[in-house]
Amino acid sequence: MEAAKEKHTPWAIEERRHWVAFRRLLSLFGVALRLSGLYRRGVRNALDIKLKRIELRFENLPAEFDGYRILQLSDPHVDFLAAPWDTALELISGERVDLCVLTGDYRKRVSGPFEHILPAFEKLMARSPARDGIYAILGNHDCADMAEAFENLGIDVLINETRSLQRGDARIHVTGTDDVHYYYTDAARAALETAPDGFKIALVHSAELADIAANAGFSLYLAGHTHGGQVCLPGGMPIITHLGRHRRYASGLWRHGSMTGYTTTGIGVSGLPVRFNSRGEVVLITLRRG
Ligand SMILES: [Fe+2]
Repeated sequence: MEAAKEKHTPWAIEERRHWVAFRRLLSLFGVALRLSGLYRRGVRNALDIKLKRIELRFENLPAEFDGYRILQLSDPHVDFLAAPWDTALELISGERVDLCVLTGDYRKRVSGPFEHILPAFEKLMARSPARDGIYAILGNHDCADMAEAFENLGIDVLINETRSLQRGDARIHVTGTDDVHYYYTDAARAALETAPDGFKIALVHSAELADIAANAGFSLYLAGHTHGGQVCLPGGMPIITHLGRHRRYASGLWRHGSMTGYTTTGIGVSGLPVRFNSRGEVVLITLRRG
């Protein structure tokens, strides 16, 4: 799929042609920002990321996991604008974290080499930020070879598979899928549909599979991909979400059936190194029973 430059989604296989037109639009937008004097402000906005704390309650959370803390880091695109990643690492230092999850889009480009981004993830590993380790999934900017490179760093990459976490006699399950924008296969759907019963968390690069996960009994769904719109109208309304479905889940907390979802605005940026009305973030989620 990577070599063919095809876009495999749950409903179609297309060529990735739309990026040519999108890139032209982006350069025009960049010129307009420079002419209007807003470019520098946009870059300052992109550098200004925050630590967002959320507490989520679930009736079916095992008591042993009450207070369990999950750190979500998403969309760093570390070789485009590097500083937000370093800020993210500063923001999380000293925080008690049980599990760290990386929800995709680690580099700027959607193809080509990736080895140059690995030192950024070595820095994360050097801080060993989470007691139960780090799970990662791939986004549409990532390639299959990155899985092995990440695993060599000690990051557990979930490609359509489930891991179980234990506290005392209780277990919860975390299922991670492959990217569903360029590299969807039925294995992603199957991973969600065959995950064990119990309290389970889905890691999917975007909200695209929310209905499938909700029907499969997931309690929590963590996604990124949209950058919260990155450039939004006043009030935070995104102009572009890069979502084919579930566009209302482009940012923040949402619910689909009985499942809670969170789409983070992410750490980094793509296209242009600017943000407007959409602040980048690292997310620290505390799970509560009740
Ligand atoms: Fe993405």
